Amino acid sequence: MTESLFVSKTSDRRKFYDEIAPQIESLVEGESDLIANLANMTAALREAFGFFWIGFYLKRENQLVLGPFQGSLACTRIDFDKGVCGHCYTTKEIVIVPNVDEFPGHIACNSASKSEIVLPVFNRDGNVVMVLDVDSDKLNDFSGTDAEGLQKIVAIVEKLI
Ligand code: SME
Repeated sequence: MTESLFVSKTSDRRKFYDEIAPQIESLVEGESDLIANLANMTAALREAFGFFWIGFYLKRENQLVLGPFQGSLACTRIDFDKGVCGHCYTTKEIVIVPNVDEFPGHIACNSASKSEIVLPVFNRDGNVVMVLDVDSDKLNDFSGTDAEGLQKIVAIVEKLI
């Protein structure tokens, strides 16, 4: 397992993602505990990108429940039909929200959060078993580049489950 991260001093997020993905891969290598791996992944991503909030919501019986995350306190349970996370869970699609105030039903865990991206994580049967949620304190902070880059991280998680 790697103990430190290397990231270039650049604002080019594509470059960041390309650099961080293999490091995250080696971060989880040799560790079989999913929660430990998700915890380190969120720490690495927040350290690399300075994301305002990043974390996983895990599918439990009939709700999404807060899993490993980095950032300020967050709501612990989200119904499948609520919020951006619930929308991602039910549509099984990546959701990019440029302005959270304009997303009907957005759940505001922190009023400083302005934009958001949520990605579904699938198990081998094609069911969504968790979502990866990233929040920014800037409007319109996420684009297709983030969807593509974070999808690489999701692919690493999917190999672990
Ligand atoms: N905003 C999310 C809730 C989770 S927090 O952002 C950490 C939502 O609407 O689902």
